[in-house]
Amino acid sequence: MTMRAVVIGVGHYLPARVVSNAEIETFVDTTDAWIRTRSGIERRHFAAEGETTSLMASHAARAALADAGLLPDDIDAIILATSTADLTFPSAATMVQGELGMTRGFAFDVQAVCAGFVFALTTANALIVSGQARRVLVIGAEAFSRLMDWTDRATCVLFGDGAGALVLEAQTGTGTSADRGILASDLHSDGRFRDLLYVDGGTSTGSTGKLRMLGKEVFRHAVEKLAQTALASLDKAGLTSADVDWIVPHQANIRIIEGTVKKMQLPMDHVVVTVQDHGNTSAASIPLALSVGKARGQIKPGDLLVTEAIGGGLAWGSVVLRW
Ligand code: UT7
Repeated sequence: MTMRAVVIGVGHYLPARVVSNAEIETFVDTTDAWIRTRSGIERRHFAAEGETTSLMASHAARAALADAGLLPDDIDAIILATSTADLTFPSAATMVQGELGMTRGFAFDVQAVCAGFVFALTTANALIVSGQARRVLVIGAEAFSRLMDWTDRATCVLFGDGAGALVLEAQTGTGTSADRGILASDLHSDGRFRDLLYVDGGTSTGSTGKLRMLGKEVFRHAVEKLAQTALASLDKAGLTSADVDWIVPHQANIRIIEGTVKKMQLPMDHVVVTVQDHGNTSAASIPLALSVGKARGQIKPGDLLVTEAIGGGLAWGSVVLRW
């Protein structure tokens, strides 16, 4: 008998304000054609004033709880992947706990930037498998629009805001790859690459700071490392690319997604793509894509999924799960 962390609910939230590439053209020296061809992005959502990461996360959490048919007090733990917590502390996760009116359990943030959701899923799985929690709410939520330098066209056209959430529940499996739930994961970081993607503020400067990125360099690492980690997770689960129903990648750039799945020898019709509508929402992009993929009728119970992501650190990784 093997304990598995099985997805029993999913939901997402996007701020009401949709910003098209045409609108971006009005305040940044760029074109719709450049943004589409270089990144695949057509529009993104921006949070309203006062619409914080924890509020967006709470909306997504409520949607996932409703999908699972559960109440906040049915949950043992909240793990929130974010690099844009409302405040330096307390964690945005405890704010979500308060916002939901949850009176028990524990909550904490995971910070692995764009790879945050795969780190959070892996942590949730460990809590469930070790018997410390039976039901875990795993959220990815970000307000990256607040980290943009609006004079840097190489970065400010790429990012957006939003939140997605999953409810994971402990269920017994057979120990084979036919089980539902998280089957394997693979995590990495390499701090030698910290200068490729970072925010130039924080407690060292007493300011929030702005996002800085050497895009071409990050791109080069991304395709290589994402294909490697995805294949490594599949291998740990005793599976191969041929077993995959859906790749649900971090949505940073359509060219990175295409390059990665090509290396995995998979066609694009096995990929959930939302980058055109959301832009890069960092740790929120995978749970947003999972929720949208389910709503579109792409992801169905029993499907084998691979999620993969890379971001600042560099930190990267992947999770294989059966939906
Ligand atoms: O989620 C975390 C991980 N992050 C990523 O995965 C992002 C990885 N990187 C990328 O997605 C791509 O590198 C970018 C989309 C950021 C850039 O695409 P690129 O094909 O690497 O373009 P580039 O940076 O090499 O720039 C090409 C040209 C430059 O002009 P010159 O020097 O060739 O004359 C830039 O100045 O495009 C110019 N450019 C722009 N032009 C119009 C850069 N940004 C823009 C812009 N509009 N917004």
